[in-house]
Amino acid sequence: MNIIEASNIKYVYPDKTLGVKNFSLDIQEFERLVLLGSNGSGKSTLLKIFAGLVKPTSGDIKIFEKRVNRDNYPYFRKNIGFLFQNSDDFLFNPTVEDELLYTPLQLGFSTEEAKNLILENSNYFGIKKLYEKPPFRLSGGEKKRVALACVLQLNPRLLILDEPTSNIDGKTRKKIIDFLKEYEGTMIISTHEIDFVKKISNKVVLLSPEKEILKIGGIELLEDKNYLEDAEIL
Ligand SMILES: Nc1ncnc2c1ncn2[C@@H]1O[C@H](COP(=O)(O)OP(=O)(O)OP(=O)(O)O)[C@@H](O)[C@H]1O
Ligand SMILES: [Mg+2]
Repeated sequence: MNIIEASNIKYVYPDKTLGVKNFSLDIQEFERLVLLGSNGSGKSTLLKIFAGLVKPTSGDIKIFEKRVNRDNYPYFRKNIGFLFQNSDDFLFNPTVEDELLYTPLQLGFSTEEAKNLILENSNYFGIKKLYEKPPFRLSGGEKKRVALACVLQLNPRLLILDEPTSNIDGKTRKKIIDFLKEYEGTMIISTHEIDFVKKISNKVVLLSPEKEILKIGGIELLEDKNYLEDAEIL
């Protein structure tokens, strides 16, 4: 099954900046795909399109073989875990505990079930001690850990992570890698960390500074200096 079918996608922001162009790709279930490209090459734009959060300006997108419309929106929210590049775009509840409980409660878990659910990941990511704090009073890395725990705890069928390891210390990075190795669904990640890619993915999409696909391949693509230089990430 194709989890994403993108056909000739273009996205232009309201201020007329080009976000991405000429993007066509099918992503199959259980693929572990990484988007690599220089700053501004369109990674975050694409991830928001793959999550159904924004609609392309032109071209076609299907997610889980469904069109992006109001009727399908609840299905996408239930089955897609999305980590924003900037944690502040995500965290809005009064305390960390409320933040962690928010989506499980929305999805119909009882309070007791939701509390049990959040406990495992809170211990794993070392954030239980932060339960009472307002998210905006956390450090950058702590915010990211809370946001990650929120996204990962529901074990979504499609996991989309925008730079999950930026701002993150070594111990937490290792935990994220271990978690992603175990994760069995479909994964789409953007990152600037080539070593991280090698550990967790099996397919690489290189984006050019012109905001289109430069090359698609396996992780052996990461050994090809010419392509990495053309993508301006080396
Ligand atoms: N909200 C916005 N309004 C206008 N232009 C935007 C907006 N967000 C991004 N852009 C522009 O769209 C292009 C693609 O940006 P995008 O955020 O997708 O890049 P990226 O590959 O994720 O970069 P980074 O590595 O810095 O995260 C850039 O030229 C950027 O300036
Ligand atoms: Mg980005």
